[in-house]
Amino acid sequence: MKALGLHEVRQEYLRFFEHKQHLILPSFSLVPQNDKSLLLIGAGMAPMKKYFTGEAVPPRSRVATSQKCIRTGDVENVGKTDRHATFFEMLGNFSFGDYFKREAIHWAWEFLTEVLEIDGDLLWATVYLDDDEAYEIWHKEIGIPESRLVRLGKEDNFWELAVGPSGPCSEIYFDRGEKYGCDDPDCKPGCECDRYIEVWNLVFTQFDKDEEGEYHPLANPNIDTGMGLERIASVLQEANNIFEIDAIHDILEKVCETAGYQYGSDPQKDISVRVITDHIRAVTFMISDSIIPSNEGRGYVVRRLTRRAAKHGRNLGIDAAFLYKLSAAVIDSWKIRYEELDENRDMIERVIRREEERFLKTLETGMTLLEGEVARLKKEGSRRFSGEDAFKLYDTYGFPLDLTKEILEESDMQLDEEAFLRAMEEQKVRAREARDDSDNIGWSAGGAMAPEEIKEDIEFVGYTRLQVSGARLLHILAEGEETYHLQTGETGIFYVNPTPFYAEGGGQVGDTGVIVGEDFKIAVTDTKSTKTGHSYCIGTVKEGTVELGDVDLYVDEARREKTRRNHSVTHLLHRALRDVLGEHVNQAGSLVAPDAMRFDFTHYEAMTPEQIQDVEEKVNAEIFRSLPVTTRLMSYDEAKEEGAVGLFEDKYGDRVRVVSMGEYSKELCGGTHVDNTAQIGMFKILSEGGISAGVRRIESKTGLGVYAYMNELDERQKELASLLKSNEDQITEKIRNHLEREKQLEKELAKLQADIAASKMDRELGETEEIQGISVIRGSFVDIGVEDLRNMAEKRRDKEDALVLLSAENAGKVQFVCASPKSAIEKGVKAGDVVKRVAKIAGGGGGGRPDMATAGAKDAAKIPEAMGALEEILAELRN
Ligand code: SER
Repeated sequence: MKALGLHEVRQEYLRFFEHKQHLILPSFSLVPQNDKSLLLIGAGMAPMKKYFTGEAVPPRSRVATSQKCIRTGDVENVGKTDRHATFFEMLGNFSFGDYFKREAIHWAWEFLTEVLEIDGDLLWATVYLDDDEAYEIWHKEIGIPESRLVRLGKEDNFWELAVGPSGPCSEIYFDRGEKYGCDDPDCKPGCECDRYIEVWNLVFTQFDKDEEGEYHPLANPNIDTGMGLERIASVLQEANNIFEIDAIHDILEKVCETAGYQYGSDPQKDISVRVITDHIRAVTFMISDSIIPSNEGRGYVVRRLTRRAAKHGRNLGIDAAFLYKLSAAVIDSWKIRYEELDENRDMIERVIRREEERFLKTLETGMTLLEGEVARLKKEGSRRFSGEDAFKLYDTYGFPLDLTKEILEESDMQLDEEAFLRAMEEQKVRAREARDDSDNIGWSAGGAMAPEEIKEDIEFVGYTRLQVSGARLLHILAEGEETYHLQTGETGIFYVNPTPFYAEGGGQVGDTGVIVGEDFKIAVTDTKSTKTGHSYCIGTVKEGTVELGDVDLYVDEARREKTRRNHSVTHLLHRALRDVLGEHVNQAGSLVAPDAMRFDFTHYEAMTPEQIQDVEEKVNAEIFRSLPVTTRLMSYDEAKEEGAVGLFEDKYGDRVRVVSMGEYSKELCGGTHVDNTAQIGMFKILSEGGISAGVRRIESKTGLGVYAYMNELDERQKELASLLKSNEDQITEKIRNHLEREKQLEKELAKLQADIAASKMDRELGETEEIQGISVIRGSFVDIGVEDLRNMAEKRRDKEDALVLLSAENAGKVQFVCASPKSAIEKGVKAGDVVKRVAKIAGGGGGGRPDMATAGAKDAAKIPEAMGALEEILAELRN
């Protein structure tokens, strides 16, 4: 076993799968993109769900990653045990309709036993109940004995998220040795004790689970494997827990150094050290992915972990903010793979520090309140802490619920959690009523300013202009509170009037760009609007300190250009779909981004390839006709009269905006468009598929996107041609020949293997003996099929005029074959009689012709005895 460091294991893994033709992608963000079903990424496959279902095309059919993951289900156990963690890295290799079980299993085995040099005898495998295919591969091809193969049920060996790709799996376990075991004589993987630890999960992704819990078979089966990096590193380093792993132990030591504490000298304090060691990693990684502490969703997770760690710092006697300093240790160690940590170093430190300082400010008061209340209750003989008080601690003093619970637990008190949740719910309703858009990040922290308090109008001038100078920065919000300064590295939302930035709406993404002030610069990453129609930019300060006042605004032109092509084409597509499929087609949603266009529409069945082509041709024809795109404002009724379609925005003002493309299409729309359909350039449908009952989705590319796509296809074709050493127009022919040749070679190989096996058996067969005047040959084998036994027996019987008796043991089953030559039959020795008597001794039976007979039996241990009985049997039969 190679004692590799954490960072080395990751590197070896990615290198190994790169050699197996996998594309190595950087880790995806911890924030799920376009996926409302997940709060945070908790598995390597989660960001790639669309590649599994076929909704999106992966950059290559084989991909491998080391994915940042957060799981907070067990957060209260983190620290108390030395196994739980919130942050971990998951190593994964993925096949999107490419390789399947065989390669996944073989490569996992090769990596573990050859690259990491783990002793194969210490590895176990589990398979899903009836997955005989995986069982056979493990047993027959890898050679894991049945004693180390376990079949487990759905709870252990079926992998799924709430919705999305799922399937049966096969897990690999490492045996840490008897000293970690329990008393159960049947202790094996699946047992609760610490002896067998799961290191790798190979999921054979065959289904797509929908929101109703129905499993739909996927067109192509996929592979999703996940190996916890910390797990495998702890095996290699023979670490008893994750905190003993090299890189993590370094953080633990930093924590102890900061606290001036000797680890291991006080069990309570050890818990605090472990909590901080784990949480600082999670928090550092989350903030580097722009998750900022708040009272909701992901932001709440960072807040909860930061505050829990800060509180444990106090348990170690640290008075001032200290966590932010520890983040440097995480960044310096992990930046080797995660560059974003280093890039966001200042921001990470600043955000943690501010969160810590805010918490420390109210911690004293909150703790006094909590302790006072606990003392009072104890005096009264009550052990029940009120939910309302816990909510007050949460709401006013920023005590995350689990922190309050933890502190109460230490004093042996119980919390009325139901009342807490009720109070929380009531506050949410109040907040919703008071505020307009609870989704908007600016308000989510329960800030002091509500959108209706913005009195100024914000004018959108971005239909015609992409730059504005001398606009006014009216308000800045950070973490839900209005502020007047924002420093470099900080993120906030900015209200500017007038604005050329398009706010996300009607399926079109919000604009990005730059806001420049006298001595500051803000990178705008998105633009949204409140329900009152006030548009705002979300951005991070790149230079200087932001202050209210005059600013210049620049929309990212290239991005907007690509986006508007994709938006305009949705109108042509909508019309063309109605022409080809019928007027029942209605738009059911869309996503219009610079590099992607997705159009959902109502239709009851899959489109045929001809229909898809027809639609594609129609749209391209309208592009080539170079239709002018015009917009007019009119009343809703007028628009209706003119036959404009408009379906997805239910809130129209007095005047609606109608976008026309020649006479071909007329739609109500607030989005940004090309001036002439020719600017779209070209349109190509990439996929068409169902997303729910009666709703289909088309994904497509336009303009230079099509050009890039063509180049990609061209490259692929060239690569194929060069691999096949052929001209591009002969690729198909060549592949056909190769496939035929492969079939031929497989046949030859199978024959060759059979010949080799036969000649090996031949050599292993015993010498000819003389018994009762009859020449006899005997032999016992393992894992040889009855067909091979029979061939061998006949061959030797005829060649040497001898009676041949063979046995074989296959997976616990016993097989006997006897061939008797004419000379022996004449002496009364028939094969059927012999084999029947032999098999009986090993608990079986059978028979056959006088010259050839077979029999099966159950008791493999009795084979030598049965074979040895031949002398007596011949004596009995010989006449
Ligand atoms: N999705 C599986 C898991 O998380 C394998 O990657 O275990």
